Amino acid sequence: MNLSELNKVANAMVKPGKGILAADESTSTIKKRFDAIGVESSADARRDYRELLFGSAEAMKNHISGVILYDETIRQNAKDGTPLVKLIEKAGSLPGIKVDQGTKPLSFSPGEVITEGLDGLRERLAEYRGLGAKFAKWRAVIDIGEGIPSWNCIKANMHALARYAALCQEQEIVPIVEPEVLMDGAHDADRCYAVTEWVLKTLYVELFETKVALEGTVLKPNMVISGKKSAKRASVEEVAEKTVRVLKACVPSAVPGIAFLSGGQSEEEATAHLDAINRIGGLPWKLTFSYGRALQAAPQKAWLGKAENVAAAQRAFAHRARMNGLASEGRWSATLEKKAA
Ligand code: 13P
Repeated sequence: MNLSELNKVANAMVKPGKGILAADESTSTIKKRFDAIGVESSADARRDYRELLFGSAEAMKNHISGVILYDETIRQNAKDGTPLVKLIEKAGSLPGIKVDQGTKPLSFSPGEVITEGLDGLRERLAEYRGLGAKFAKWRAVIDIGEGIPSWNCIKANMHALARYAALCQEQEIVPIVEPEVLMDGAHDADRCYAVTEWVLKTLYVELFETKVALEGTVLKPNMVISGKKSAKRASVEEVAEKTVRVLKACVPSAVPGIAFLSGGQSEEEATAHLDAINRIGGLPWKLTFSYGRALQAAPQKAWLGKAENVAAAQRAFAHRARMNGLASEGRWSATLEKKAA
């Protein structure tokens, strides 16, 4: 393993003012997003939409350090025949690839899931590396509810994440390690804190035992946040304080950077939280975004599948990317949102 090269890539992924665009929706997930805007999800429509994003020079050059792709997308060409990967590289951004194969019910653990995709992963990574991928992503999903998560679920999922990360580094690819504690439940932020702490502590033991070099990884965690159905809402300051506290307690300083998922937060909420987290300051890692929904909701709404809306959609994407870029340095404010609107 060439650790200094992996470390260089990991640092580039979390460069101040920039963050990651998660555009790795599976075919079934992107269909849901397209359904919401009344667009039929054909391979060409998916290509057109992603070409719109990756060809958005202002957003990509200034604020997007890397793009997470789906298997179909890493093999697709833009309308003029240029590979989409080249479009990303031309903007000075790094192509990455989602390599997990989604979740399945975890045996004898009702309500819990395990992420699959380890079989044949070494060979798939080698192929993706040939197609230009510099980093990869694997998402483990931990739900909070009555009696869950179980230790069985946490242990199995963190072990799988560590095995994935080791395979990535062996193949000279930086692993994004994503243990997502879902915000779907009725729990409060303190319960989210406790579960996130359990998950992260377990993850870093597994990464140690699997011999993963932390300097060549990026962590993609949830923020410590109230569940969607919770009546007790944590304020922006409380989310920032609790998120930073749990990360300090669990994440070694050898990790170059942390890129949060948005997980169902509104666009402005995800930006405000990231900004408040970065305003705390004095932390050993860079803290940025790796957002899917919180970066793409606005461009999707503006696009609606119509060629004449491409420029407006790119403007909406550039605005969201800029707001999050500012938040990655603790320089965002709500007035900037209003001015642009
Ligand atoms: P969201 O920001 O929409 O949670 O997506 C990020 C991601 O890549 C989840 O795996």
